[in-house]
Amino acid sequence: MQVSVRKAVIPAAGLGTRFLPATKSIPKEMLPLVDKPIIQYGVEEIVDSGIPEVVIITGRGKSPLEDHFDRSFELEHVLRTRQKHELLAIAQRPSQLAQVSYTRQQEARGLGHAVLCAKPLVGDEPFAVLLPDDVIQAAIPCIRQLLDIHDQYQASVIALMEVPKDRISAYGVVAAEDLGNGLYRITDLVEKPKMEDAPSNLAIIGRYVFTPGIFSSLEQTGPGAIGEIQLTDGIRHLLRTQPVYGLKFAGTRYDAGDKLGFLQANVAFALQRPEFAEPLKEFLRTQDWGA
Ligand code: G1P
Repeated sequence: MQVSVRKAVIPAAGLGTRFLPATKSIPKEMLPLVDKPIIQYGVEEIVDSGIPEVVIITGRGKSPLEDHFDRSFELEHVLRTRQKHELLAIAQRPSQLAQVSYTRQQEARGLGHAVLCAKPLVGDEPFAVLLPDDVIQAAIPCIRQLLDIHDQYQASVIALMEVPKDRISAYGVVAAEDLGNGLYRITDLVEKPKMEDAPSNLAIIGRYVFTPGIFSSLEQTGPGAIGEIQLTDGIRHLLRTQPVYGLKFAGTRYDAGDKLGFLQANVAFALQRPEFAEPLKEFLRTQDWGA
């Protein structure tokens, strides 16, 4: 029987140290790409993929995330009174996107541990995971692309991207059998390998669809790279009992948790907005680029 995926988990408990000082008192997930917080792009991708329920893993200092996906009666009242109907719709949209629940990761014990915190809210069913730092522009939402593979094989699927050799140690990396059409069967995974130890140039990007078996695998996974419980190590454990697939997704990925990646994402998203595209191009054209 085909089981459909109804829930997606967004780990958002990280401290955002790569983006200091901006993230000292603001969650990195709330930094805007043009005018929308990074995390809203993630929730929209989940909803556009056909998943109605979102579980956000938060931590201390992350309450702005809950406010963002809640109603704001005062703001809505002011906008309604001033007849600002367009702005009212924009302000209301985050609270209407999905059914969002929250749970806290009380200690920074790693991405695998953060996903495990969702177990009571997800239960015994397949689910998606979206890392909000990875913002993806795609004609078909990346999570949807993974769901199509999951629906076909009833197995876990992870998003893959080729990265240059000198960048590979910033990622989880797979060894995989090429099945054609961008589809791979994973044979091994390693989190943040040294360049010379990387089993391929195929990096894991922050989109996953898991069978519920990942939870017991994570429960049996001890601390790995940088002393944290790594999601990649949990998937490696899952591989012992179940097939795991990888998909080289169609789309462009930005690492919005990195300062340069964030700037690139802002330019790319602004260029897609009719009101900004021409003035921004003009601004870039007239910059003094130096020698
Ligand atoms: C995480 C994962 C890693 C993956 C990366 C993608 O690492 O642990 O396997 O390749 O996201 O963005 P992080 O970027 O949180 O260090």
